[in-house]
Amino acid sequence: MSHRIVITRPIPEPGPGLVAKVASDVVANREDRPLSPEELRRIVAGADGVLCLLTDAIDADVLDAAAGCRVFANMAVGYNNVDVAAATARGILVTNTPGVLTECTADLTWALILGVARRVAEGDVEMRAGRFPGWGPLYLLGGDVAGATLGLVGPGRIAAAVARRAAGFGMRLLYHGRRPSPALEAIGATGVALDRLLNESDFVSLHVPLSDETRHLIGAEALGRMKRSAYLINTSRGPVVDERALVAALQEGTIAGAGLDVYEDEPRMADGLAECSNALLLPHLGSATLGTRAAMSRIAAENLVAALEGGRPPNLVNPEAWRGAG
Ligand code: DGY
Repeated sequence: MSHRIVITRPIPEPGPGLVAKVASDVVANREDRPLSPEELRRIVAGADGVLCLLTDAIDADVLDAAAGCRVFANMAVGYNNVDVAAATARGILVTNTPGVLTECTADLTWALILGVARRVAEGDVEMRAGRFPGWGPLYLLGGDVAGATLGLVGPGRIAAAVARRAAGFGMRLLYHGRRPSPALEAIGATGVALDRLLNESDFVSLHVPLSDETRHLIGAEALGRMKRSAYLINTSRGPVVDERALVAALQEGTIAGAGLDVYEDEPRMADGLAECSNALLLPHLGSATLGTRAAMSRIAAENLVAALEGGRPPNLVNPEAWRGAG
């Protein structure tokens, strides 16, 4: 019970309650906003464990400010906000919250697929503005979803959950990943090269983590390979898409539309995107359900508590540091 624990932003229970049980001192940012780099460095000083969020840039400076800290427990499945190599070099454990947000992120991916193809947000705006002229044979026509080809970039859990939902729409499934996915193939998805997936898909949905390899994976060239009638869906990380190239493709009609939940430089978005009526834009809501956020909070806290009690956290992303620190 002699642990000093930092929580960088208000999060739902049960995480705060769980960490409080093993803490002598909990220092929590009570304001619902990301801390500035300087505030972050200040708050982590002297911490034994930090429960952080994807909006916190945990770089070498923050890790140095947290000298002596055992664990940074990130409340997200993605951990591109943490310099994992720098943490490992300092013997600091890094954990994430996989699994619990798979289903709700797949649900939101489908909200984007259906929403952008069937022009749901545009229709809502028309109604509220009193501009519905009455049913018309040419009015707000969208793309077909049932029977279309869905291309999943990334072979992971969320892609498989999106694919399972596609069965109800009778879709043909393609996927692209560095390794074969038995889960996707069991649902009938065919593994193909990225170029073929881009060429043949009516919906291209991104489910890769952000890394040097995936940054701008979808740029002007990839967009140019897509069908003019196809839609790009991104619920992964914004920088996987070259957003300026996407705006150009949407303006020029190189593709039919895009459904986005994530952006290159959140919370901002590229100039021109807001004016693209063929883009459906959500503010990073993939995991934003009451149940999922509570589960993420619990898992982040369990990881943190395990590390502070000398155990191996269940969701350790840098096992090399565990050997170094254990
Ligand atoms: C994650 O956990 O990485 C998600 O992006 C949060 O919504």
